[in-house]
Amino acid sequence: MWIFDPGSERILEANAAAGALYGFSPEEFRSLKLADLLGEQESHRFMVEMRNPARPASSVWRQRTSSGRAIDVEMAIHEIDFLGRKARLAVLMDITGRRQLEDQLRQAQKMEAVGMLAGGVAHDFNNLLTIITGYSQLIANSLLPGDPNRQSAEQIMKAGERAAALTRQLLAFSRRQVLQPRILELNQLVHSLAAMLQRLIGEDVDLRLELRPELGRVSADPGQLEQVLMNLTVNARDAMPKGGALTIETANVDLDENYASRHIGVRPGPFVLLAVSDTGVGMDEATRMRLFEPFFTTKGSGKGTGLGLSTVFGIVKQSGGSVEVYSEPGRGTSVKVYLPRIDQAAITEPEQARRKTRRGTETILLVEDDEMVRTLVRETLARDGYGVLEASDPIEAREVAAGYTGQIHLLITDVIMPKVSGRALAEQMAHIRPDMKVLYMSGYTDSAVVATGILQKEVAFLQKPFTPAALAEKVRDVLEGNGKTRQAGE
Ligand SMILES: Nc1ncnc2c1ncn2[C@@H]1O[C@H](COP(=O)(O)OP(=O)(O)O)[C@@H](O)[C@H]1O
Ligand SMILES: [Mg+2]
Repeated sequence: MWIFDPGSERILEANAAAGALYGFSPEEFRSLKLADLLGEQESHRFMVEMRNPARPASSVWRQRTSSGRAIDVEMAIHEIDFLGRKARLAVLMDITGRRQLEDQLRQAQKMEAVGMLAGGVAHDFNNLLTIITGYSQLIANSLLPGDPNRQSAEQIMKAGERAAALTRQLLAFSRRQVLQPRILELNQLVHSLAAMLQRLIGEDVDLRLELRPELGRVSADPGQLEQVLMNLTVNARDAMPKGGALTIETANVDLDENYASRHIGVRPGPFVLLAVSDTGVGMDEATRMRLFEPFFTTKGSGKGTGLGLSTVFGIVKQSGGSVEVYSEPGRGTSVKVYLPRIDQAAITEPEQARRKTRRGTETILLVEDDEMVRTLVRETLARDGYGVLEASDPIEAREVAAGYTGQIHLLITDVIMPKVSGRALAEQMAHIRPDMKVLYMSGYTDSAVVATGILQKEVAFLQKPFTPAALAEKVRDVLEGNGKTRQAGE
């Protein structure tokens, strides 16, 4: 609370809570005018509102503390007698934190909506791109090397692959990507990328690594984390056209209740910090507000895609972490990625030897509701020598399986289909044909299928769009019992 004289606009008195909020001593308060707290313009507007008999009981004002920090306060004004003269009592509440949380919530809701849109578009595109790249590859393969049409088919394939790369970024942003997490040592990952990152930033930028020893482990998809590091590094490079320093730092941190309560979507607990900092141009507030939006870029056309940070955002969120950006114009930028820390030992899987034989004679039951994708997969499998039974939905699949007396070695099924999911189908079929292996394919996972978008370890999965070669390889892997979540062709 503080008391002021409406005539002279002087502050007459303030209580201890006001002292704590503004950082002024009682003496200092008594030497202030309204304009010192509200600023010239706002105090003028404030006095006009004071004279309005119809003003609301309370209203929100932006004010400044002794250190110049902006605070938002909700203020109610009462007429009182103070030491024998008429004065005004301001009773106020600091709502700066609440305002910031509201802003964060709005931001989070916006990202959620844009993510739904991007994810939906990407999902449908994946089916189309599977068809485009698949058939162009089949055409190219069927033509002699000298055939002029071969080049045309290859051009279509290339364009399809570029489009697929774009859709993958959109899926990453909308957190609908299939992650293949492993237990990782982040320091090791940074070390193994350092040479490549140095090449990326060029000679004018100094790469500094500050990797804390005894760093906790994280569970994340190594390929995706590399993507995160690369995107952040490219941004840092772009921000330092005249050179500078890029620092990559790791550390164990514990985020407490207090921190979590001020940051939407952050849970308290142990985390590993991965920070990428540059000494570049920095960002103003308008840019900071929008930098995670897909396609938001301040770089000229042809230079930026605006997908770098949205991809980072999606990957980190889907891995259970959070991202924070600290930046001021001219002061450089620091991007902090927090990933949940776990305590298990890191597992480094030995790389699997590539299979040579990609053909086979086994019988495969194919379930896919998109007719064109189904036809492509069927044709590819048939060319590779397999016997193919097909169905357009799980109900038909059960009928087909019931009417087939021989062994069915493999079920290949889309994950998301109307009515019954691919997973439910696989579970039902497991009772009838326990020896049958299962390969899922999808553009993304859905909460109904895998709660977090992370497949269980033992599930074999092929992400759309895929090429016939990737399909052939994956099918062999699964049939020979090496399926796991490793994706063929990657
Ligand atoms: N390290 C950085 N320093 C300054 N600005 C940055 C930095 N990283 C990102 N930005 C800003 O955020 C925008 C979005 O970044 P991003 O999503 O990676 O897209 P792009 O790099 O293609 O523009 C950039 O255009 C830039 O304005
Ligand atoms: Mg970028």
